[in-house]
Amino acid sequence: MMKAVLPCLALALFFGERSFCQSAAMPTIIEKNGRHELLVDGKPFFVLGGQVHNSSAWPGMLPKVWEAAAQLQLNTLEAPVYWEQIEPQAGRFDFSVMDTLLVQARRHRVHLVLLWFGTWKNGSNHYMPAWMKADGRKYPNITGKNGQPIDSPSPHSTATLEQDMKAFTAVLHHLKEADAEHTVIMVQVENESGSWGSVRDYSPAAQKLFEGPVPSQLLKREILKALNRPAASRGTWTGVFGDRADEYFQAWSVALFVGKVAAAGKAEYPLPLYVNAALRDPLTDPPATNYESGGPTDNVIPIWKAAAPAIDVLAPDIYLQGSERILKVIDLYDRPDNALFVPETGLEPEKGKYLYEVFAHGGLGFSPFGIDDNNDGETAEALAARLAPFSGDYAAIEPMQHELAQWTFEGKIKAVVEREDHTQQVIGLGSWQAVVDFGTGERTELQKNPADDGRVMIIQLGENEFLAIGARCHIMFKPAGKNSGKAWQYLKVEEGSYLNGEFKPLRILNGDETDWGGPHLGIKPTVLRISLVTR
Ligand code: DGJ
Repeated sequence: MMKAVLPCLALALFFGERSFCQSAAMPTIIEKNGRHELLVDGKPFFVLGGQVHNSSAWPGMLPKVWEAAAQLQLNTLEAPVYWEQIEPQAGRFDFSVMDTLLVQARRHRVHLVLLWFGTWKNGSNHYMPAWMKADGRKYPNITGKNGQPIDSPSPHSTATLEQDMKAFTAVLHHLKEADAEHTVIMVQVENESGSWGSVRDYSPAAQKLFEGPVPSQLLKREILKALNRPAASRGTWTGVFGDRADEYFQAWSVALFVGKVAAAGKAEYPLPLYVNAALRDPLTDPPATNYESGGPTDNVIPIWKAAAPAIDVLAPDIYLQGSERILKVIDLYDRPDNALFVPETGLEPEKGKYLYEVFAHGGLGFSPFGIDDNNDGETAEALAARLAPFSGDYAAIEPMQHELAQWTFEGKIKAVVEREDHTQQVIGLGSWQAVVDFGTGERTELQKNPADDGRVMIIQLGENEFLAIGARCHIMFKPAGKNSGKAWQYLKVEEGSYLNGEFKPLRILNGDETDWGGPHLGIKPTVLRISLVTR
C-alpha cells in the first residue's frame, strides 16, 4: 500500500545513466489564489506521515521504525538528523546515519521529511555537538529576567548562527549529491525553536538590542495592521508593541536566525522548508510566560513571515485538546501566505479525525508523532492497536492521495469531524446538503463514538456526484438551493476504492444499506461514490 517511490536507481542502472534520475523534478510547493499544493516528482502529493521518536533515527532502531511505518501505511516518514551526530568535530561531517535512512527509505518505498535537530530542539540546545556545548561562552544560552541561566540557546549569537548555517548547508549539500531520487521531499529547520522559562533573552547584549528601534521590516503598514498596531508606529520595541514587546522581540530574533539557516540551506539545494510550532492556546490569548516564546505561534506568524522568507511553511504541532481549540488552530495556520501542514500530533484516537480537516483546508500533510515502539518491546498486536486511529484512514486514502491532493488544491473537499457533544454537522454542497450524524449502528439508534472520532470528507465531483470518505457516521443528503423542496433519491451509491486514478466499485449499496436515512460509514474508513437525482 505504501507509495511507490520512483525506482530511480534501478532505472538508472538499467539505462546505464545517472542523469535520468537527476532530471526528476524537485519537490516543490506551488501556490494559486491563496491555495497550496506539494508536488513530488511533478505530481500532487499529500503527506500521510508518521514521525519517529526523537532517538529512533539510529540504524539499530530502524527495523522497528519500518515495522511501524508498514503498520501505519504511511507514505512519508519524518525522522531527525542529529547535529551532534553529523558533526562530531567542528567541520568534520559524517552522513552515514542519514545515508542509512535514505537507502532504507527507498527500499521501503517511502519518502522522507528530515527534521534538522540543530540549534533548537524543543527550545533547548540539546542536539548541538558536544564541542559546542562545552564552550558555553562562545555558544551562549539566553539569560532570564533576573539574570538566571535559561536552558535555551541565544538567537543573538553570531558564532552559533555561523556554525548552524554551515552544518545545515552541509546537510543540504549532501542531499543534493546523494538524493537525486528525491526521497527527501521536505526538511524541517530546527525543532520547536523558541524558549521555555524566559520570554526573551535579558543578557546585556540582547537588552541593548531590545532598547533600540524596531527594524523597518516590521514597521510596514500590513505587518503593523496584522499585529493590531497603528500604521504610524515607530520607535523602541516597548514603544511600538507595548506588553507584547518581549515576546515579539524574541520571535523576531529567533525567526531571523532560523530564516538565515534556512536561506543558507536553500541556496545549496532548494527543498521545501518548514518550521514547527509548539502552540499556545488560540482561544484565550495567554501571556507568553505560558508557552514557548519566540516560535511561530499563531500571534507572531506575520513576524516570522517578515523575518524568514526562505521558510515556506509555518507548521503547527497539534497536541492541544478539544475540537474547538484544534479547529481554531487549523484555521489560523491555513492562510493565503501559509500552507497548512501538521507535522506532529498525538496518537490518541480523537486526533486522527483532523486529517480530514487538513484535507478540507487545502493542507499538504498530516503526521502523528512517536510511531515506533521506542525500544520498549511492544508486541505487533499492541503496535497495531496504538496506530489504529490513523492506519485505517491511511489505508483508505493512500491509493487516492494524488487525486485528493489535487482536489484539495482545487477547493473541492469539505469535511466535518465529531465534536465532544456529538452534534449533527451539515456540509453545504451547492444544490445539496449532507447532514452528518455521528456514531455507529442504525441511524435511528446511533451509539455514541466513545472517542468522538466520527469523521467524513466529501468531494464534489459534479453537481450531483460526490465521493465520501470517512468512518463512524451516517450521511443523509438533502436537496438545497435550487433543488429545495424537490423530490429526490439516490441514483447510485457504490462502495469501493481508488486504483491508478479510477474508482473501482466493490459493491452497490442499496436496501438496508441506504434506505434508513442514507449510507453509513462504519468503524472501518470507507470510500463511497454517490450520485443523486431529483424527480
Ligand atoms: C514535540 C516535539 O517537537 C517532539 O520532538 C517531541 O519532543 C514531542 N513534542 C513529544 O511529545
